[in-house]
Amino acid sequence: MSRVCKPSLDSLKAAVDFLQAGQLVAFPTETVYGLGADACNDRAVAQIFAAKGRPSFNPLIAHVANVEAARRIAMFDSRAESLATRFWPGPLTLVLPRRPEGGVSLLATAGLDTVAVRVPDHPAALDLLRAFNRPVAAPSANPSGRLSPTTARHVDEGLGDKTALILDGGPCRVGVESTVLSLVGKTPCLLRPGGVDLESLRDILGNVDVASESSAILSPGQLESHYAPNAQVRLNALSANHGEVLLAFGPESPPGALNLSATGDLVEAASHLFDYLRQLDKTGASVIAVMPIPDHGLGLAINDRLKRAAFDR
Ligand code: TXA
Ligand code: MG
Repeated sequence: MSRVCKPSLDSLKAAVDFLQAGQLVAFPTETVYGLGADACNDRAVAQIFAAKGRPSFNPLIAHVANVEAARRIAMFDSRAESLATRFWPGPLTLVLPRRPEGGVSLLATAGLDTVAVRVPDHPAALDLLRAFNRPVAAPSANPSGRLSPTTARHVDEGLGDKTALILDGGPCRVGVESTVLSLVGKTPCLLRPGGVDLESLRDILGNVDVASESSAILSPGQLESHYAPNAQVRLNALSANHGEVLLAFGPESPPGALNLSATGDLVEAASHLFDYLRQLDKTGASVIAVMPIPDHGLGLAINDRLKRAAFDR
């Protein structure tokens, strides 16, 4: 079997065998590809940090097949139940008090008393999680700090030699990572904007705080420089200057530019974001100039990623 395979009975069986043996398996989700390991196996989880070159203080999301499995590793309150009913499977990660008896490796949670859980909305991911029947710890399947992968090829280019198997479930539908919401405090707190927009969370929860830039400690993945292409990124550009390439958005874009969404659709734009940044990066241009993106709906997640890509390194 080659390293990159379409999901099938055989490749899923192989993936489960690799996970049980403590090896790394990359798999598709609706947001981005994940680099998975048995969340209850310290050594397997350690391989994730090593493969990504990821700072070990940065905790991982435990992926499970359904809410019952999530309740075995985390403590659910009524807010968590409502959100799970409404958004799972889907691009929402809940940070909840950890159940020590749930068995999730302390390395995966970076020693915190909390655990981040989500049920991904992708048939291959769900088949894998059901067949493995244990939580799978998985960050995005890219070297730490670089652009997240939305195709199996992106994974192969960045981490191919570090994975036992890459399940190729096609391009990711959502294209930006899950929303990370903490329900540990009295008021829910948005730690990372993502595939479920803030407006939809407020519809269900009422008040939701938004973690400030300085609360990196709350969600250590939110380091300022992240999602970085090789090129510099210039935001709020109206056109490309000499030597720049343009990442366009909306109907007012110059002809011929790569456009995240010519109709100004933020959902479509999110699905293209990482792939188009990669394409423009491959041109070798020193600067990627990005047109303004409205800051509502999925625009909040897109602008969050772009701001980090643009952060002075
Ligand atoms: O869409 C996604 O969420 C993808 C796919 C593969 O599921 N995964 C992903 O994982 O983006 P990662 O590791 O790149 O981002 C996880 C984020 C980080 O910002 C991390 O700090 C935060 O979740 N996180 C994880 N556990 C946490 C915890 N116990 N408390 C606070 N933040 C946590
Ligand atoms: Mg990531």
